[in-house]
Amino acid sequence: MSVKTNLFAATMLAGAMAGLSAGTAQAQGALVMYCGVQEEWCRAMTTAFERETGVKVSMTRKSAGEVFAQIKAEAANPRADIWWGGTGDPHMQAAEEGLTEEYKSPKMGELQDWAVRQWEQSKQRTVGIYSGALGFGYNTELAKSNNAGEPKCWADLLKAELKDEVQVADPNSSGTAYTLLATIVQLMGEDKGFEYLKALHKNVNQYTKSGAAPARAMALGETMAGIAFMHDIMTQVADKAPIKIVAPCEGTGYEIGSMSIIKGAKNLDNAKKFYDWALTPAAQKLGAETKQFQVPSNKGTPIPPEAPKLNEIKLINFDFAKYGSSEERKRLLSKWDNEVKNLPK
Ligand code: F6P
Repeated sequence: MSVKTNLFAATMLAGAMAGLSAGTAQAQGALVMYCGVQEEWCRAMTTAFERETGVKVSMTRKSAGEVFAQIKAEAANPRADIWWGGTGDPHMQAAEEGLTEEYKSPKMGELQDWAVRQWEQSKQRTVGIYSGALGFGYNTELAKSNNAGEPKCWADLLKAELKDEVQVADPNSSGTAYTLLATIVQLMGEDKGFEYLKALHKNVNQYTKSGAAPARAMALGETMAGIAFMHDIMTQVADKAPIKIVAPCEGTGYEIGSMSIIKGAKNLDNAKKFYDWALTPAAQKLGAETKQFQVPSNKGTPIPPEAPKLNEIKLINFDFAKYGSSEERKRLLSKWDNEVKNLPK
């Protein structure tokens, strides 16, 4: 065979192989994911799913309220296929507003009751993937030079000594902060609850966009106290930050982090493939591997030893259906905007 023939054969072979691999990639296709947990965990999930299935994932991380707003804005021409993570309330609202798809995964039988209840209450449109309790923390180094004493209760965060020393997210963008709003209203009643939030406002140095930001700010010494999910504060403690985690003495709320398939998903089969995979212990244990210490929803996924123990925390009987309903969520958020957010200090 001449050099020319050899070259021709090699080119044909390379062309055929390229065609084959493009065909394979096309066959596996793509998945567009909106991710509601911390960036590290979002990336670990994306990489593992791509490795497992060959599906190319395009992922964007956003806070829960922001994802909801985006999905609503894109409803006529949905860009995303799957919404994985974030507090359950905007997932419930999206379900009610018909922005997400019904789906029954073959993995449902392996899940904790609270995860299945979320699915039933949303008429099969969202499912629980993890759970975790709300609380607060304080930087023990900064606390030494503050006369407030050790805060143990929600009431302690109102002390005058904590002026500009408390950080929490904005409930419009953040599911964590909406969980706080709904928790305080359920714990104290609406009138007293709003009085509490107005008084707290005097001590808040910043309403952040993302719910876990106050935990990072505490670790950096930028704020003495921060309200967040206890598992997010634990992430900082695991990295040796001088922070004490507090389960408030009056009791506290909790979240059921959720997952939904977007209505009109262009890659529906891949969205279902991801959904089933994300409910397996193999996928769920990626949380603990990236120092995310929620309680996973599959009964077979080991609970990370660092996860705050839900059965040792005084939890309120959180009404997820009510506080995830479109009407109640809209009403509470606009009331908070009108009565709390812009109050002078
Ligand atoms: O991943 C951490 C986490 O706190 C989740 O447990 C929760 O669902 C989500 O982030 C809430 O984020 P945000 O308050 O930014 O919406």
